[in-house]
Amino acid sequence: MKNIVIFASGAGSNAQKIIDHFRGSDIARVALIVCNKPGAGVLEIAAREGIPTLLIEREAFLHSDVYVQQLKAIPAHLIVLAGFLWKIPANLVQAFPNRIINIHPALLPKFGGKGMYGHFVHEAVISAGEKESGITIHFVNEKYDDGETILQERCTITPEDTPESVARKVQLLEHQWFPVIVERLLKSL
Ligand code: GAR
Repeated sequence: MKNIVIFASGAGSNAQKIIDHFRGSDIARVALIVCNKPGAGVLEIAAREGIPTLLIEREAFLHSDVYVQQLKAIPAHLIVLAGFLWKIPANLVQAFPNRIINIHPALLPKFGGKGMYGHFVHEAVISAGEKESGITIHFVNEKYDDGETILQERCTITPEDTPESVARKVQLLEHQWFPVIVERLLKSL
């Protein structure tokens, strides 16, 4: 049985989809949810699902090994960033080579980088007059939204679309694909 650790600090809809996907699975389970935001929706999901949580503190995350040691102790087989906005420090990237993945709500390398998250992404996509958007699932390295792409899926954008309607299309793709890719990676470990 492999251990998935989800890092999330938002509503947690992707975390929920991954939890649902692996419920009763003999491949993997969500062993821990790591969060940097007290009050985040994902913490309610974890409580309801009986999944342990770890609320992390910025200084320790960026400048110590304490969380790396905790993740190794579990042990975490795959770390899944699902709406986690802090940059992952080098010591964590190096401790879990090709074992940390992220989902981004656009077609990287466009519309990525610091500050590009949630509605900001969809507003930028609409302002740029893009004809399509989508999702990128990628390995995480020391830079924002930069590691090797694992999967991209696309949706079309029409002149009638708004940031909200694009967000809904993109979220459908996220929920459809993220659990599948997590399972595929776990099976290849
Ligand atoms: C997702 O759309 C994810 O792609 C995005 O945060 C949302 C979290 O939603 N991540 C980023 O923008 C990372 N730069 P959720 O909390 O409902 O899963």
